[in-house]
Amino acid sequence: MTHYLSIKDIDNLSVWVKEARILKSQPKADKNLGANKTICMLFFNNSLRTRLSTQKAAMNLGMDVMVMNFGSEGWTLEYGDGTVMDQNTSEHVKEAAQVVSQFCDIVAIRAFATLTDKEQDEAEVVLNGFKKYAGIPIVNMESSVGHPLQALADAITLEEHNSKERPKVVLSWAPHPKALPHAVANSFVEMMQLQEADFVITHPKGYELNPAITKDVHIEYDQEKALQDADFVYIKNWSSYKEYGKVLNQDPNWMMTKKKLRSAKFMHCLPVRRNVVVEDAVLDSDQSLVIEQANNRTYAAQIVLKKILENL
Ligand code: CP
Repeated sequence: MTHYLSIKDIDNLSVWVKEARILKSQPKADKNLGANKTICMLFFNNSLRTRLSTQKAAMNLGMDVMVMNFGSEGWTLEYGDGTVMDQNTSEHVKEAAQVVSQFCDIVAIRAFATLTDKEQDEAEVVLNGFKKYAGIPIVNMESSVGHPLQALADAITLEEHNSKERPKVVLSWAPHPKALPHAVANSFVEMMQLQEADFVITHPKGYELNPAITKDVHIEYDQEKALQDADFVYIKNWSSYKEYGKVLNQDPNWMMTKKKLRSAKFMHCLPVRRNVVVEDAVLDSDQSLVIEQANNRTYAAQIVLKKILENL
């Protein structure tokens, strides 16, 4: 594998999940694989889990790690070809990516959607700019469109807790005061399309995800109906895709409660706003898998880095 940009870069999800679970039982088994190799982690946006788990994964593989908060400490980058750079951008991604690639063997990038420019977001200008000019492997640590490290960690968590041949998994929208990107939901949907599961998405009208991603996944606008007989409930807020980046609904009735969850396991990528997205009683119960999901971020990142290192 050269790059890890989306769920599509996984050639066999169930094999990757099995391999990640083996790494989890022996995290230092490949501690020499990354010797004399460096990963540069560039953050254009905030992070807790992605930053620490990817760094931990790289350290488990014996890599050196360089981290830069590019969004707050780097030059503002230009991505357009032939732009007259007399406005707010100070450096072109052409130079920046080539310079970064001289210092490391793998570049990992976090660059969220603007939620104001759909065309720019869907073009993944940051990720693809670095991919085009860096000439070394790129890892997506959450881009405009996807968060494939999170979805891989979610697949590991599902496998660890599933006891059925075909579990029912529900992805439910929940309210949030801010406009949030679609990346986590998109990658979760793409990952679920590779699973043997009864998969349902539920959200208010107007919150349909990109139909090119959801394809023929069952969408149920009645949350209560969707949640019936669920084994796993994945809660996430996202802004409208059609009315791009808009918050159309803040109905608190969509918040996840213990009553609605019934006996299902609860999943969320974190960070989460308590008693807005989900009530305390869910997060504080043993039905919540959120801490395990966060822990599995390390082994998702580690299997990705391992496969890239083996190909260098
Ligand atoms: N879930 C996730 O990506 O967490 P962070 O934003 O804290 O990295």
